[in-house]
Amino acid sequence: MKIAVFGGDGIGPEVTAQAVRVLEALDLPGMELAEGDVGGAAYYKHGHPLPAATLDIARASDAVLFGAVGDFSCDHLERHLRPEQAILGLRSHLGLFANLRPATTFPGLEHMSGLKPEIARQIDLLIVRELNGDVYFGEKGTRVLDDGRRQGWDIMAYAEDEVRRIAHVAFRAAQGRAKAGQPGKLCSVDKANVLETSQLWRDVMIEVAADYPDVELTHMYVDNAAMQLVKSPGQFDVVVTGNLFGDILSDQASMCVGSIGLLASASLGERQTAFGTFGLYEPIHGSAPDIAGQGKANPMATILSAAMMLRHSFAREAEAARIERAVAQALADGVRGGDLGGSAGTAEIGDAVLERL
Ligand code: IPM
Ligand code: MG
Repeated sequence: MKIAVFGGDGIGPEVTAQAVRVLEALDLPGMELAEGDVGGAAYYKHGHPLPAATLDIARASDAVLFGAVGDFSCDHLERHLRPEQAILGLRSHLGLFANLRPATTFPGLEHMSGLKPEIARQIDLLIVRELNGDVYFGEKGTRVLDDGRRQGWDIMAYAEDEVRRIAHVAFRAAQGRAKAGQPGKLCSVDKANVLETSQLWRDVMIEVAADYPDVELTHMYVDNAAMQLVKSPGQFDVVVTGNLFGDILSDQASMCVGSIGLLASASLGERQTAFGTFGLYEPIHGSAPDIAGQGKANPMATILSAAMMLRHSFAREAEAARIERAVAQALADGVRGGDLGGSAGTAEIGDAVLERL
C-alpha cells in the first residue's frame, strides 16, 4: 500500500502529520509512505510548485494524501509558478476528474453552523464536483483591446464525454446512497438559463439518466442552489456540478455544516491499482497561513480524508468507518479546535482521535 504524502504549504504539513499518525496506528500490512514537495514550499526549494519528482512519486503510489497549497508570498509570480498549480497539475496530470465532497452535520455541532440548528441538522449530502474541465482548464489570458483597455479572459467549456463520465460517477453515488426501497436522488446544478456550457451539461445529464431508472434526476440553477443550500439543505442528497460551481458550493456547504475544518474530499479518476481506485485525498480547506506553524489547525478534515482513502483506494471500509467513528466520538466528547470555538491544538486533536480509535 504505497501512499504519497504531500503536506504542502501553511498548515498542510501539520494536518497531514496527524492523518499519518492515524494511518500508522491501524498497522496496515505493507503500508509505505513517500513524502514529496508541493506548492510554495516546492517552489522555494526546486523552483516549481509541482516538481517532476513529486509527480513521479504520485504516479508510483496507490493513493495521495494531500495537505494544502497557497502562499501569499507567491502572489507576484507568473500563474504557472503559483502554489495552486500544484493541486491543479496533480488533478489534471493524474486524470482525477471526479471530486467527492461529502457534507454531513456532526451531532452536537448544529449550533456551530451559520444556519439554525434545526436546519443544519438536515444536512447529509455529497457534492460531486467535476475537476478536470470548465473555466479552470480552458484557455486563458490577458490582452490589450484595440481601444487600449486591458482585458482578462478565461474560456468555459465542457465536452460531452467530460460531462458523461462525471455523470456516471454521480448517478452511481446516488444509487449507493439510496435508502432501501427508495429511488436515489441526484440534483444537477448548472446555469443553463445563460450558459451554453451548462445547456450541454444538462442535455448530457438527461441522456445518462436513461441508464439509471432507479435514480431521480432534478436540475437546479446555481444561484438557486446557493439559496436552497442555506434555506433547506435537507432536500439535497447527491449534487453534481462543474468545477467552478462545485468549488463555490462546497465551501458554502462546509459552513452550513459548521466548519471548513471538518470536510474531507476524494479526487478519483479511472486508474485502478491492485487495491482499488487511485485517488488523491485532501481536506477542502486551504493552507490558512494566518495560523500556520502554530499547532492550532484542526486536522480532522485531513484525518477524515485518510478515511476516504482507505475506503476508495484500498477497499478498507471497516478501517475507514473506524476512523470516522473516532472523529465523531471525539467531537461528541467535546474536543474542539479553534475553528469550532475551542482551544484543542493540532496534536491534541490527533491524540484524541487516536485514543478513540
Ligand atoms: C479547492 C481549492 C482549489 C480549487 C484551489 C486551491 C486551486 O479551492 O480544492 O476547492 O479552486 O479547486
Ligand atoms: Mg475551493
